[in-house]
Amino acid sequence: MKILGIETSCDETALAIIEKRGTGPSAEFLVIGSLVHSQADLHSAYGGVYPNLAKREHGKMIVPLMQKLLTDSKQFLGPSKKLDTEYLHNAKEDLTKRLAQQNPDLLEHLLGSIFINEKPDIDAIAVTEGPGLEPALWVGIAFAEALGKIWQVPVIPIDHMEGHIVGSLLPSEAMSHSWTRLSEFESPALSLLISGGHTELVYMDRIGSYKIIGETLDDALGEAYDKTARLLGLSYPGGPHVARLANEARINNILSQVRLPRPMIHSDNNDFSFSGLKTAVLYAVRQAPRDKDGNIENFWVMGLAREFEDAVSEVLVRKTENALELSGAKTLIVGGGVSINGFLRNALENMCSSKNVKAFFPARHISGDNALMIALACALKSAPPERSLRASGTKRISDN
Ligand code: KG4
Ligand code: ZN
Repeated sequence: MKILGIETSCDETALAIIEKRGTGPSAEFLVIGSLVHSQADLHSAYGGVYPNLAKREHGKMIVPLMQKLLTDSKQFLGPSKKLDTEYLHNAKEDLTKRLAQQNPDLLEHLLGSIFINEKPDIDAIAVTEGPGLEPALWVGIAFAEALGKIWQVPVIPIDHMEGHIVGSLLPSEAMSHSWTRLSEFESPALSLLISGGHTELVYMDRIGSYKIIGETLDDALGEAYDKTARLLGLSYPGGPHVARLANEARINNILSQVRLPRPMIHSDNNDFSFSGLKTAVLYAVRQAPRDKDGNIENFWVMGLAREFEDAVSEVLVRKTENALELSGAKTLIVGGGVSINGFLRNALENMCSSKNVKAFFPARHISGDNALMIALACALKSAPPERSLRASGTKRISDN
């Protein structure tokens, strides 16, 4: 079975095709292709993601990206099937009716595409339904529905956060076009999801059964990185910049002149709060030493970045350790864009090995938003629900 994955929940337009053979724990996966177009440069001028700009860019990029994916994947796909001329004519008319108002950019690109005229060797389409930015999500959903109708294949809604969880279980060898099994893990597991929009601790008995046992009460961790970066005069997305400066401070033995809080580190629940960190950084920046041109001294910025990562890492480690103890989980699955951070990975890995808990992190190229994890989440569902799609800015993985 071959699945096309579509992801447009934020500022990455992403498409992937995977093939699945077998079922249950012995199922194997082949990554046929996975492409990500990042809009980060476009949004960096605004210091964050601008939803309507994201929507327009997804509408412009998704069709050429699809064409490239199909071309790149040719050797792994069977022949495409030509669609009947009259059927195609009616389907395109129907598409025009539905998309002309809502998404004219996408419609124009779709009607001009080659792949719309023939059904490729794809059996199902998986699309991120939420959580994410609604205008951005709708582009992926409209694209999925259009292709699903024309090619007559099912369209399966996927939760973005579930994508991050299962993505972390895909071994990195999977990226080299070899059949791969998902990493086996001991249940129950705890998943720590740290991204630009979410910070959650999720208890799971197995894939598909999730319970959120803790979450941020305000800013997500990635958001805290991005806001701190902005206050330090660094561009969006700020996470990698703060991480790089903190690393330089560690290498050069530069210490922070400011102590930041460790929010909720001793609270007796699994929730997080990161907005206080940003406020503390704001006050610190006001007192920061500056050069004669008014720029904050570089050594001070590096020290602060280091202190920020120390604060974040202490909170994450402590709260995750607590949640592991309370839940009796045997495995930690870390996912989301922030999970690429080497310093945080190390800290979490050390804590886990001291407790004999096995920790999983996503392969580097799929730690950020991607469509491979969306196709994979679909492939792991035993009977994927087929129902009408809705973009959801707030929906979370279901408690069941
Ligand atoms: O999962 P993701 O790609 O998108 C969302 O679903 O939000 O996560 C993006 C977040 C951004 O806030 C970005 O600054 C952060 O991940 N990030 C990092 C690093 N690389 C990206 N945070 C800390 N250290 C990094 N190296
Ligand atoms: Zn994400």
